[in-house]
Amino acid sequence: MHRHFTATDSTNEEALRWGREGASHGAYVTADAQTAGRGRRGRAWSSPPGKGLYLSLIVRPGAPHRDSATLLPGLNFAACLAATRAVREVTGLTCHTKWPNDVLANGRKIAGLLSEAMWREGRLDFSVVGIGINVNQAQDDLPPRPLYPASSLFIESGQEWPINEVRDRWLHHFGNYYKRLEKGDWEQVRDEFWRRCAQRNREVIVQSEGETLTGTALALGSDGALLLETSSGMRRILAGDVVITHNAKAE
Ligand code: BTN
Repeated sequence: MHRHFTATDSTNEEALRWGREGASHGAYVTADAQTAGRGRRGRAWSSPPGKGLYLSLIVRPGAPHRDSATLLPGLNFAACLAATRAVREVTGLTCHTKWPNDVLANGRKIAGLLSEAMWREGRLDFSVVGIGINVNQAQDDLPPRPLYPASSLFIESGQEWPINEVRDRWLHHFGNYYKRLEKGDWEQVRDEFWRRCAQRNREVIVQSEGETLTGTALALGSDGALLLETSSGMRRILAGDVVITHNAKAE
């Protein structure tokens, strides 16, 4: 099932409303434009009409997966990996993932992910996986981002691309990753995210819960947390923003 809007406040908001009314697993919402597109940490997601993919998918896991601690990080990693594959297939551009849930092309952010979970009696009822991919935005359409500048497939490749093709490839790949998560392949999905991750083995600066930490991004933990080697020991970061990635010291 698919609902498309010429304009809406936020496709995540639409999908949350639809999910509460009982929309089934796999139902998704798209829009040509969002008037109040949401990013992570209360940020806005710029969503000019007809320039980007704004899509929110309802994931309603079966009973055995509703208590899984790795399902939510798995969905985030799967959505980012699906975006790297979709972009590669449509445009030929090679992308990297950025922990916890961004996608970069040539070091610039071309996609972001906001997933929101709804709980019922302490168990996951459904999750909305909201993906924004900057497809045909020119630089003027994008907000300034000093550390990880925003970009689009158009800016990186010099040509415009069909948004519906990016959407279809993303849905296809996300569906495949989801099947793998259902089968219990969480570790392989996490490891693929890490192999494609721009921060792997790099010196990074991370902002997490009011703290700024510097260290080497060494691995992802069993729950998807970033394991950071700092001068005062190993830190496990469950939620945060990598604000700077330095070049590798040696690889
Ligand atoms: C981020 O990088 O901060 C996450 C951005 C997520 C944007 C997408 S666009 C479709 C969906 N609807 C929203 O309001 N947000 C997500």
